[in-house]
Amino acid sequence: MISVIKKRAESLLIPSQVCEYVKRKRKVILNQTQKRTTTSPEETRALARELGEGLAPGAVVALYGDLGAGKTCFVQGLAGAYGVHEPVTSPTFTLINEYDGGPRFFHVDLYRVSSPEEAVGFGLEETMNGDGITAIEWAERAETILPPHTLRVRLLHDVAEDVRVVCIEPGVSA
Ligand SMILES: Nc1ncnc2c1ncn2[C@@H]1O[C@H](COP(=O)(O)OP(=O)(O)OP(=O)(O)O)[C@@H](O)[C@H]1O
Ligand SMILES: [Mg+2]
Repeated sequence: MISVIKKRAESLLIPSQVCEYVKRKRKVILNQTQKRTTTSPEETRALARELGEGLAPGAVVALYGDLGAGKTCFVQGLAGAYGVHEPVTSPTFTLINEYDGGPRFFHVDLYRVSSPEEAVGFGLEETMNGDGITAIEWAERAETILPPHTLRVRLLHDVAEDVRVVCIEPGVSA
């Protein structure tokens, strides 16, 4: 029903208004929860890059989703927004990878971490409290130490192979 109403609204708009409407629909608005669907890894990276371009220094992006949901793919897009050109892969033997971008860009993967205390031991709190950008895969493993301004991104496999539903929830600003 909602999509029918939206379609009607679109058909009533004149072309320049249509462009504006599409632009508004595409923009990642950082102060409200949004749900997007992507149909390829490239689309997920593009969405993440769009989000990354609006983040402030010190931003923390917590990523949730099953194995293969697209968390690393999302981090690659975010990193692209900060001028990181080297390949971004999950930190395996370390917990945190640091990239030299515009601001410092940290890619954290907590898959092998069993408690927030362990993540603290690796320096996660210092990283999150600095003025770089911190993206954290398997963020639920350190849920209790995430700062209030953490932006949460939840990736869900849809029924179709390459489709992902991406929910972006803003944090609470100070
Ligand atoms: N729409 C999509 N968005 C993101 N990835 C997709 C999409 N469609 C297919 N894929 C594929 O899904 C896989 C996602 O892998 P990725 O490493 O990003 O997942 P992950 O959530 O980081 O997994 P892990 O928990 O193992 O770290 C890649 O092989 C990618 O090509
Ligand atoms: Mg990953």
